[in-house]
Amino acid sequence: MLSIFAFVTLAFQACQGVTVTQQPANSAVEIGQNVTIACMVTNKGVSENVQWKMRANGTSTFNAITFNENVLGDATKYAVVSTYNLTVINAATADEGTYRCTAGTLDYDAQLTVVDLPNAVAIAWGGSPDAGNTVNLTCTATNGRPTPNIRWIINGVDMSASGILETNSVTASGYGNSVSNLPLVLNSNMNGNLATCYVAYDGWDDAMNATYILNINGGASLQMSGLIMSAIVVILAVM
Ligand SMILES: *[C@@H]1O[C@H](CO)[C@@H](O)[C@H](O)[C@H]1NC(C)=O
Ligand SMILES: *[C@@H]1O[C@H](CO)[C@@H](O)[C@H](O)[C@H]1NC(C)=O
Ligand SMILES: *[C@@H]1O[C@H](CO)[C@@H](O)[C@H](O)[C@H]1NC(C)=O
Ligand SMILES: *[C@@H]1O[C@H](CO)[C@@H](O)[C@H](O)[C@H]1NC(C)=O
Ligand SMILES: *[C@@H]1O[C@H](CO)[C@@H](O)[C@H](O)[C@H]1NC(C)=O
Repeated sequence: MLSIFAFVTLAFQACQGVTVTQQPANSAVEIGQNVTIACMVTNKGVSENVQWKMRANGTSTFNAITFNENVLGDATKYAVVSTYNLTVINAATADEGTYRCTAGTLDYDAQLTVVDLPNAVAIAWGGSPDAGNTVNLTCTATNGRPTPNIRWIINGVDMSASGILETNSVTASGYGNSVSNLPLVLNSNMNGNLATCYVAYDGWDDAMNATYILNINGGASLQMSGLIMSAIVVILAVM
């Protein structure tokens, strides 16, 4: 009986063919905020369904949370908007996990990260910024959960791939510091360049930022050698 039903359903879907036009994407949201995960469809047949399920981190089962336009269970936690996006209301750590939109027979998964933003993010030199030296530019994001990724933009160029990320002081509940060291070979042309580091999560790549104007020691010594050069020119002229 069930298999006949399944067969009829499948046959019907083959004719109608619900299509997901906007798939769910990995997302990150701050604790206490709302977040909407997309699952927009076209060509949904009357016998076809769109359902959201959620699998909390550390568990293996998906629990159904919606059925078409309807929220199953806690209506203060979920809403279905502009069919069939899912809004997770007042995000809490317990909402972290995998969200699955099942449209007809196909599953689309996205990961939701619920973040407690770092207290602060700051840039500093690790070493003396003299022209000719290789010095780390260091970006520190303090006490966030989970510990974020760090992106780097120097003078408009994405240098993130060169950043060396480390975390420290991570507590059992996942709070900790992220430290990214970006080794830079300094030259006086970089003097005045703008450095920006971003606090980034999967699905939210600019949650916070810090900026810093690169001040490279060496402009002064170049001026000095210019002066010496002029003095030599003057001495040569006198001779
Ligand atoms: C989240 O959505 C709920 C329900 O629509 C609303 O009452 C609340 O103000 C929203 N919260 C934020 C932070 O936008
Ligand atoms: C549904 O998600 C899509 C894709 O992210 C977005 O363009 C649209 O605005 C969303 N609708 C609502 C009501 O959130
Ligand atoms: C939840 O799972 C994701 C993906 O496996 C992981 O990146 C994240 O750190 C986990 N969060 C917690 C609080 O365990
Ligand atoms: C920059 O930081 C990395 C990672 O912490 C470290 O291995 C490297 O020695 C540092 N380089 C300099 C020039 O301090
Ligand atoms: C950096 O963050 C501030 C808010 O703290 C924001 O106003 C600004 O637009 C951000 N800058 C960039 C380049 O994203």
